[in-house]
Amino acid sequence: MIETVESSAPPPSLLSGGRVSSATAASPITRVTLGDVPRMDIPVGEFHRVLGGGLVPGALVLVGGDPGIGKSTLLLQVCGLVAARGERVLYVAAEESAQQVKLRADRFGLGSDELYVLAETDLATVVASIQALAPRLVVIDSIQTVYTDELSSSPGSVSQVRDCTLKLMQVAKQHHIPMFLVGHVTKEGTIAGPRVLEHIVDAVLYLEGDRYSSYRLLRSVKNRFGSTDEVGIFEMAEAGLQEVVDGAGLFLGEQHVLAPGSIVTAPLEGTRPLLVEVQGLASATSFGLPRRTANGFDVNRLHMLIAVLTKRAGLRLGNQDVYVNVVGGLRVTEPAADLGVALAVASSYRDQPVARNIMAVGEIGLAGELRTVRQVERRVAEAARLGFSRCVVPKQWRRGATRPRASSTVDVETIEADSVEMALDIVLGPPPRQHRRAAADDTMPPTQVSQSHTFSEDSGADDRTADRTDY
Ligand SMILES: Nc1ncnc2c1ncn2[C@@H]1O[C@H](COP(=O)(O)OP(=O)(O)O)[C@@H](O)[C@H]1O
Ligand SMILES: [Mg+2]
Repeated sequence: MIETVESSAPPPSLLSGGRVSSATAASPITRVTLGDVPRMDIPVGEFHRVLGGGLVPGALVLVGGDPGIGKSTLLLQVCGLVAARGERVLYVAAEESAQQVKLRADRFGLGSDELYVLAETDLATVVASIQALAPRLVVIDSIQTVYTDELSSSPGSVSQVRDCTLKLMQVAKQHHIPMFLVGHVTKEGTIAGPRVLEHIVDAVLYLEGDRYSSYRLLRSVKNRFGSTDEVGIFEMAEAGLQEVVDGAGLFLGEQHVLAPGSIVTAPLEGTRPLLVEVQGLASATSFGLPRRTANGFDVNRLHMLIAVLTKRAGLRLGNQDVYVNVVGGLRVTEPAADLGVALAVASSYRDQPVARNIMAVGEIGLAGELRTVRQVERRVAEAARLGFSRCVVPKQWRRGATRPRASSTVDVETIEADSVEMALDIVLGPPPRQHRRAAADDTMPPTQVSQSHTFSEDSGADDRTADRTDY
């Protein structure tokens, strides 16, 4: 709940003072002239690309992300490199002391007379410093910790964050200084998180990644000056965030062993396909409700895939705990990863490994059908480049194809499947004996199930089979 005080003055009569002059008149779009706006190069290539090719003068860019993910690191590196080019930069450290910033800059081997550090939280002082220094680039780290005296609410509150941003925007637009604002987001998507600001600023970037993995993705979710389809990949190292230019194979994991429950899929990150290893584990529930846990994948989507596997492919997952893990801390949100996840779970459940040269991609529908996804040929080409020789793709994939088949797909076999069941047959082969009749069991009362099972012949030999009955 936010308290707002309404002023008691009567509202001004609407729209009386407007006047149209030659400068304010609307004009036909064909007569609008494009000023030549030189963009500022960002000396970190991946960052430059995500911004849509550099910074527009006066642009306000919000960089969000969980605490500790590397926002300060990345922006300090950018500042250091821009300053090293001889352009003046102001880094406003509203969370840390100047000494802390200095320590970090030393660790990255950055330091230049043009890099100015201001440890200050009062917005008026910050604005005065910007006006006095006239820097070419400003970083405010973070917008949650600066405050203005004009409001009584505490720093980090919605009104403070919004007001400070509006004031900074005026400064940025007036002096044509581009600014980066750092904003924290917590898992709950806090009140004073940068979401309040997304409407105000020109671009919103998110730095994401698993805290325990060293890879970070810089993703653009809003950009008034470029596409939101770009993703930059970085790796956290002693010397700061290092660019990863060819990231396609980063998330492949160490596939030394051919263990069941592991398969490679190819989600698109921005415009680039990444090859990602997905692991699944299905193990009999020891008691109560089965658990379903996903790391790097939407757990609701996993529930759906389990239901489809149960109903359409005859896997009896009702009494199985199911775990899914995306290797390398990547979060895969694209439905194109469905087939990979489903195959990983099925592979683990049936205890049948997937051959190491297979990549599978496709969205799974509720009827068990395999739906096509965009840019299948690019994913296949990327898989071929990294040594995969068989790709399982949706049957209709050419319908969604945007360009002729890439030449590099020539030496890779594309196997088309129209359902998840068919994909299972292709990738895993026929089910092992103990799983074979699973599909029919839904309709039979439990007593009949035990009689109809073939494992009565070798029940003593295979204990695991006996464990898997439903009761
Ligand atoms: N000496 C170091 N070597 C490698 N990584 C480090 C080192 N010191 C700090 N880090 C990494 O830097 C991260 C801090 O990043 P920071 O830019 O301060 O995050 P944010 O500003 O997003 O909260 C830490 O989580 C840690 O992973
Ligand atoms: Mg920080």
